Amino acid sequence: MQGIYEMLNNNRKHIPAEKQFQRTAHMKDFKKSHESLQQTLSSLEHSNTDIIRRLIHICMFKDNEIGNHILRVGEISRFLAEKTGETPEQAYFIGMAAPMHDIGKLGIPDAILYKPGEISADEYEILKTHTLIGGNIFKNPNSPEIEYARQAAVYHHERWDGQGYPHGLSEEAIPLAARITAVADVFDVLLSWRTYKEPTTETKAAKIIARNKGTQFDPHVAEAFSENLEEICHMRNTMISNADNLWERYPHSSN
Ligand SMILES: [Fe+2]
Ligand SMILES: [Fe+2]
Repeated sequence: MQGIYEMLNNNRKHIPAEKQFQRTAHMKDFKKSHESLQQTLSSLEHSNTDIIRRLIHICMFKDNEIGNHILRVGEISRFLAEKTGETPEQAYFIGMAAPMHDIGKLGIPDAILYKPGEISADEYEILKTHTLIGGNIFKNPNSPEIEYARQAAVYHHERWDGQGYPHGLSEEAIPLAARITAVADVFDVLLSWRTYKEPTTETKAAKIIARNKGTQFDPHVAEAFSENLEEICHMRNTMISNADNLWERYPHSSN
């Protein structure tokens, strides 16, 4: 901006007074339209973040425990993104996107989702489509916030070794937001009760993440996880103690 003003001001003294007046008026118009563009961009950014927040809120109605799970995954993911060297802005986007990882489950029948015990092979195939349903929800993203949410929703079950779903992508072909979400999600699920399993301990869950480093998980992310295990567990336990009003206390929540 400064450069443009300087350029417009160059040789000003050689310009007739009337022209100089017109030029000043143009400069003011230019500055005004630049400011209004900046305002529009920041309000667009705000509204995209706001949409994501409202979607998180919708997911929380499905099941309270799932609601708390996705908020925890969001916070752990934001933290891991920072620890893997992302900028605070990127980490914020990833933290906002991660809770969207299972939004596609809204399209899966409850009979499969909440079936006690093991599900059949056919039911598992149906369950796997929650990634594609999530992808449809965030199809044609028009902002980084929505794109990150799409990445978390579609790719969080991909594996570093290419053995995951829905596309069998491997290594860095899997978007970073999804590689980070995958670690946070698995860790939180291991520690949680589900209709098909009892919770495991923090130590056992941490060992499972470490053991699957470089096969299921991005080694860089899994390492950041192991190095910061204590802080992650503390963060998670604090969120659990505040579970009753977690949404109100959620750092990204304004409604
Ligand atoms: Fe999932
Ligand atoms: Fe999950």
